[in-house]
Amino acid sequence: MSAQDIINKYIKFFEDRGHRRIPNSPLVPENDPTTLFTSSGMQPLVPYLLGEPHPEGNRLVDVQNCFRSVDIDEVGDNRHTTFFRMLGNWSLGDYFKEEEIPWLWEFLTRELGLPKEKLYITVFKGFENIEYDHASEIIWKDIFERENLEPKVFADETNWWSRSGTPEQMPAGEPGGPDTEVYFKFDDVKHSGQCKGDNPTKCGCGGFFEIANSVFMQYIKGNNGSFKELPKRNVDFGGGLERLLAAVEDKSDIFQTSTFSSILRSIEVLTGKEYLGNERTFRITADHLRAAVMVVESGAVPSNKEQGYILRRLLRRSFDNWHVLKGGDLAPVIEGVIEEGSKTDPQLKTNFERIKNTILEEHSVYKKALEGGKKLIEKELARKGVRTGDELKGLVEISADLAFKSLASYGLSPTQLKSLGYDFNEQELAEKIKEHQGISRKGAGKKFSGGLADHSAQTIKGHTATHLLHQAIRDMLGTKIHQSGSNITSERVRFDFNFDRNLTHEELAKLEQKVNEKIRQNLPVKFEIMSIAEAKEMGAIGLFDDKYSDKVKVYTIGPSTAPSKGGQALGPYSVEFCGGPHVNFTSEVKSFKIRKQESLGRGLRRLYAVVG
Ligand code: SER
Repeated sequence: MSAQDIINKYIKFFEDRGHRRIPNSPLVPENDPTTLFTSSGMQPLVPYLLGEPHPEGNRLVDVQNCFRSVDIDEVGDNRHTTFFRMLGNWSLGDYFKEEEIPWLWEFLTRELGLPKEKLYITVFKGFENIEYDHASEIIWKDIFERENLEPKVFADETNWWSRSGTPEQMPAGEPGGPDTEVYFKFDDVKHSGQCKGDNPTKCGCGGFFEIANSVFMQYIKGNNGSFKELPKRNVDFGGGLERLLAAVEDKSDIFQTSTFSSILRSIEVLTGKEYLGNERTFRITADHLRAAVMVVESGAVPSNKEQGYILRRLLRRSFDNWHVLKGGDLAPVIEGVIEEGSKTDPQLKTNFERIKNTILEEHSVYKKALEGGKKLIEKELARKGVRTGDELKGLVEISADLAFKSLASYGLSPTQLKSLGYDFNEQELAEKIKEHQGISRKGAGKKFSGGLADHSAQTIKGHTATHLLHQAIRDMLGTKIHQSGSNITSERVRFDFNFDRNLTHEELAKLEQKVNEKIRQNLPVKFEIMSIAEAKEMGAIGLFDDKYSDKVKVYTIGPSTAPSKGGQALGPYSVEFCGGPHVNFTSEVKSFKIRKQESLGRGLRRLYAVVG
């Protein structure tokens, strides 16, 4: 059974149970006010989990590409990858535990044929005013009893899911809930220390894979830190495709499953090294290249900012490991990764050359930087009379300062320095890096910590203001202009659009005036669910992906007024594809002021504004 077979079975299983398939959202969110990457299936669905109606109804199913940059340092073991595909089924206030859990069991054991005795369950043990999830525990125990199996159900306080982690870590306005997880046990993994391999919550030996997670998304964190019930009780199920495949193939190493094996094989052929014995190096090279291919496909290019920065980091770690394996031309590996990925994401094939060339270009930029770093070190060592270069035998000791300087100026990572034959005090270097990161984080802090949807009243006002601004800009500069991104927090609105010069003071004032005029007119803000064809007919603007959705949600600002005496009916001022939420009437936004304009290069401009 291939990864694609699992996808097909999953979609069919849930379509047969009344679910509508919704498209995969882009890995680099196009219009998400909150974050750098889509890192869970839940992320694009936040507005609907918070209560907005979804155009496709209350039962949804999808396969979402996810990238978790926080897991970069975890990659190297048998189960972590930065990029993965997440199967998701969603109940937006429809079914709950009683249906979800038995369906999940049926899917895993009947459709995928996983051996029942290898499945272990965890449920939520309770936290402050949120209760132990007895309901899920009872449902699971009944299932095990019916199957005549010993009930392997464990309660744990970590069975809670939100985008920001534990209940304490969640900011106000963030949804979350208890979850129940399914683990698959691999018999070939040795357990050590206290671990007997009989409880997944206690095993750190890599003998269990979490293959499924049903989150009962029913709470929202309030301003005073306590939890309130959401208007509707939702189910957010997520199952990592790569891990499900590992369970189906009974391979306790994700990298040895069929989605990775051809990539590993090509690394073996090109480097003359074997995977066994070099697992960590192979895994990092393969995972990071695969993730980079997906991130580039989604539109990012290596740079020193935002997604581009993460992509650069990912690629350079991958190159470092490739160099440790003494690999030469990377092109065949990249080609293999794209080939493999296109089995589930065919659009990779369409962008084959662009993806390959972007990565290869970054590889040559990096190689040049490495040469610069090497020269810097050699010069410094020569000054001290140390012989280097080709005559270098064994490791040459350099100071942590010099190692840091070569990292900061040329990007020479510790792994790279080692493979070039330099040794240094690793701890001292790590401290220097940490200190430096602390300093840069202070500057970038807001941007990265902001990575959460915040649905405060102020943010919602800002969201409506971006629709008004979007229309006002198009009215002024023409319909070739469109929003290329936005980021809205309770403090400010950020709006990006394509235009090749800075706007003049007059133009900025005119835009501001127009948006304020629309605010004063107190126009109604409404949404309608309609077919894509109808939306296009209405002239709806904005980005949307129509791969599987027949229906879309369209927000209008302003009435379709009845014709005034002798006059013509006026269409709405703004018509835009959007998930919401928005204010009900524009006067709630109160006022709109543009604070700043920036050029993002490559024909892109950015405006900052405040509302209210
Ligand atoms: N939101 C949960 C997760 O990402 C389940 O989809 O694991």
